[in-house]
Amino acid sequence: MPWLDYKRNPRITHVIQIGKNFFKRCFLCEEIEEWLATASFRSTKHSLMEKLIVHGGAPLKGRINISGSKNSSLPILAATLLTNDTCTIRRVPDLSDTNYMVRILGELGAEVERASGVVVVKAEKIKSVAPYDLVRKMRASICVLGPLTGRLKECTVSLPGGCVIGDRPVDLHLKGLEALGAQITVEGGDIFVNAKKGFKGGPMNLMGKHGSTVLGTDNVMMAAVLAKGTTVIEGAAAEPEVEDLANFLIKMGAKIEGAGTNRITIEGVKELHGAEHMVIPDRIEAGTFLVAGAMLGDGVTLKRVMPEHMKAVTDALIKCGFPIDITKDSITVRPNPNAKGFDLTTLCYPGFPTDMQAQMCALACVINDTSTITETIFPQRFMHCAEMKRMGANIDLQGATARIRGGTVMKGAPVMASDLRASAALVLAGLVAEGKTEINRLYHIDRGYEHLDDKLAALGAQLERVQDK
Ligand code: EPU
Repeated sequence: MPWLDYKRNPRITHVIQIGKNFFKRCFLCEEIEEWLATASFRSTKHSLMEKLIVHGGAPLKGRINISGSKNSSLPILAATLLTNDTCTIRRVPDLSDTNYMVRILGELGAEVERASGVVVVKAEKIKSVAPYDLVRKMRASICVLGPLTGRLKECTVSLPGGCVIGDRPVDLHLKGLEALGAQITVEGGDIFVNAKKGFKGGPMNLMGKHGSTVLGTDNVMMAAVLAKGTTVIEGAAAEPEVEDLANFLIKMGAKIEGAGTNRITIEGVKELHGAEHMVIPDRIEAGTFLVAGAMLGDGVTLKRVMPEHMKAVTDALIKCGFPIDITKDSITVRPNPNAKGFDLTTLCYPGFPTDMQAQMCALACVINDTSTITETIFPQRFMHCAEMKRMGANIDLQGATARIRGGTVMKGAPVMASDLRASAALVLAGLVAEGKTEINRLYHIDRGYEHLDDKLAALGAQLERVQDK
């Protein structure tokens, strides 16, 4: 039964059944919460007041399963708004971000049930307004814009605002919707979309100054599937998560070609129907564990991965000299005390992912050589560097390039998590540092890593989640 998954992790919550309904009981406060379209205790409630204590130096060894992709799950859940039929999405990771998206769907009027990794959505009657209160907590909420416009032909979605990794405009999302015939106004922090006359497919180019846009491509694709005629998106994002969304839309009856490349062609259809889908493995979670294995592993194997999505990361590690074995659905990494430094630049897929940049920075700190990392997608995404320097890292930040002289002795310290990937990088740094590292603001990690601490502990890491007084 699905709730058995939670028995793995009874420390914080477990799932109980009362009559036909499932509830989560929190071990910390004994509260019971209905286990439907609500945020999970584990992911949002307690992590607000928790911190992670990492005791460095314990080698990692063993196997772990990689969870479903966060960045696939979010737009795929949003896409269920495109039909009034039932959709079943499997392998949705238990994260505060996915819980939040489930809650948004519920607030928009959909019936949503969640049991372990399975989310069932029936969006029969939906509202066209997603107000600020609903979208402000998660930037990715913007991905309801495409399906709401596609289905209802008008909507109001609040602008989600910026975030710590940099300016995050949505001009390309709006450009794409306008190219389909929508009239858009932005006023008082809200986006008003009017496409009452219907959407009409056409050509467009969504390439921006920092490359293509992932959620922008998702939004336009979700609006265009119900447009009249043919839409051609040039400069489309080719990320595996965009392809995964397209595959789900195709199962719903959409006609899409070219997803996974920079040119996507969509032939509009009259309506979509319900579908079932299993989201792809999370390549960023997998990459994070690969880096952990390279930093202080004794043979770490990742199961349930799609190695073809991770080539940029595995190639970078191989180039440094880390032995990597790849099978159809697993990757094993071993350490190399003589690993060489690296020079990498983040790029759109299939280039090196920006979401792995901070973790590579942690790796560079332990390689006895000099490495450089240049960030082209979010040039200000270097908040982790200042925290790592507090732990003894030698990092010189010049604009969007970090130069890291590795091999210095890292020492545990209290550090502040600033965003999801920066937090993961601090955990990695803590794993190799001497003594105790205290990572505050743990909720950033729970946004995007399913049970990161439990998985690391299963590999031998010494770490504990404690209440922040
Ligand atoms: N951009 C624009 N205009 C737009 C949209 C984006 O100029 O209208 C710029 C951004 O400022 C940035 C670049 O284009 O410089 C790429 O942004 P993109 O739109 O691709 O980012 P996103 O779709 O908002 C997704 C992931 C991010 C990941 C980026 C880049 C999800 C939910 N989020 O964001 O993931 O970093 O693509 O690959 O899919 C994370 O998981 O930690 C995370 C931040």
